[in-house]
Amino acid sequence: MTKSRQSGYYKAVRRVSSLISNTDKELHEILDGIVRSTARALTASASLLLLDSERKNLIHVSSWGLPKSFILKGILDPGKSLKEVETSKPVIISDVTSDDRVQYPETVNKSGIRSVMAVPILIDGKPAGSIRVYTREVYEFTNQDLNFVSTIANLTSMAIDNHILRDMTVQIRREADRVVNPSALSYARPAVFAHPSEKEFSQILDFYDIEWIYEPRSFPISWENDRITEMFTPDFYLPGLDLFIELTTMKQSLVTIKNRKVRRLQELHPDINITLLYKKDYDRLLAKFGYGPLAESRGRGVAKVLYSSAEIQNRVKELANQISAEYQGHNPVMVGVLRGVFCFMADLVRQITIPVVVDFMTISYFRSGTSSKAHVTKDINLSVEGKPVILVEDIVDTGLTLNYIIRHLKEKGVSDLAVCALFDKKARRIANVPLRYRGFTIPDEFIIGYGLDFKEEYRNLPFVGILGKNSESSLSRSGNEKNSK
Ligand code: IMP
Repeated sequence: MTKSRQSGYYKAVRRVSSLISNTDKELHEILDGIVRSTARALTASASLLLLDSERKNLIHVSSWGLPKSFILKGILDPGKSLKEVETSKPVIISDVTSDDRVQYPETVNKSGIRSVMAVPILIDGKPAGSIRVYTREVYEFTNQDLNFVSTIANLTSMAIDNHILRDMTVQIRREADRVVNPSALSYARPAVFAHPSEKEFSQILDFYDIEWIYEPRSFPISWENDRITEMFTPDFYLPGLDLFIELTTMKQSLVTIKNRKVRRLQELHPDINITLLYKKDYDRLLAKFGYGPLAESRGRGVAKVLYSSAEIQNRVKELANQISAEYQGHNPVMVGVLRGVFCFMADLVRQITIPVVVDFMTISYFRSGTSSKAHVTKDINLSVEGKPVILVEDIVDTGLTLNYIIRHLKEKGVSDLAVCALFDKKARRIANVPLRYRGFTIPDEFIIGYGLDFKEEYRNLPFVGILGKNSESSLSRSGNEKNSK
């Protein structure tokens, strides 16, 4: 077993144990957490099934990464489906296409599932349900995999046991409600997105090699007695960043509703990370790549000066002093990401008082409508293996570029990687990248000058300003510092 898989199991068991001991959590939240942690540790899909009160049917209570058609395939008979519940013994099937223990072979086949492991959940020594793990490639489950899922199954029975004394019936009825409601179920990658902006966003994620799942699951967010009256299905889940994303590229009235749903979800599941991207954020994201309504016009000028040249120079000097003190005796390699960084890098290295070496790299940018992947168009020339590297960036916005570059540099075996960014536009961060050195935290605005461009213009401004919208440019392009007209 690889070290990373082993540590994935350890983390999952730790997460599940702490979930179970959290008495504030509802049973359905705990079961969801268990299924999600199991699936992620095995990089597979997973589900949790419980016997109904008459012990005749197996009900899908929670699932992760399974297509809707798979979960809706029909009621499962514990005597026909895998039989792990009937026999109280784990079942492993390496290739479902050639095994008659599968109750709905056609649906399973269509879902692209190839291997299954099913481990019964016992309560008071009697079978109560099962945890199932599914892979899309033929996979030989190992003894360690089995031990891990058996541990999870034991923890699950503890969780259910703990809650039996609390309102178990209510909980199970809520879970059953989720199963009946088709919108409550997980989806795999869709052939069709509900909105073109979702498709475009998925292409941006693909470009930066960020794994995503479209509408992976629905959360019940309000109930009337035991009946679920409202569900919320975030648009995307990014497993690598453990982040849900909801896009709102629509009318203000609908944005308000979405806002309320997101807030409600956060109240019910404070451990879940979710980001709401508004239309303006989304337009800005596209404009950065030269697309969408914000990118249509040129030469819109500077609406407001944000930092004067003197303010920038003072802050750059402070950063350089900090780096000089902290890297004394370490001779770091300073890597700049072209082209926006050229002014900052030139000023920064000239203020640093310890020996450093300097290199640059460039990466390709997203182009709407193509399905290309980000790639390094100019790599660094120096060897960085075993050396400390300071990655110097002009601005971090979504963090997707930095996330990609960090992964690229880490593959080169650097001994330590720090990021120094002049501007941190925190508001719409998607990839949470660690910044060791930060010049300024700025508002959620598109900025230009001191190397930063809008469609290649404005890089030569000595100050940094907010790009004007068509009608509001108060400074002309040739305007100088703060007091210019
Ligand atoms: P991220 O991947 O969204 O963090 O964006 C990083 C890159 O987008 C930066 O290196 C810049 O080239 C560009 N960028 C992001 N925000 C701005 C801005 O406000 N002005 C100019 N360029 C920006």
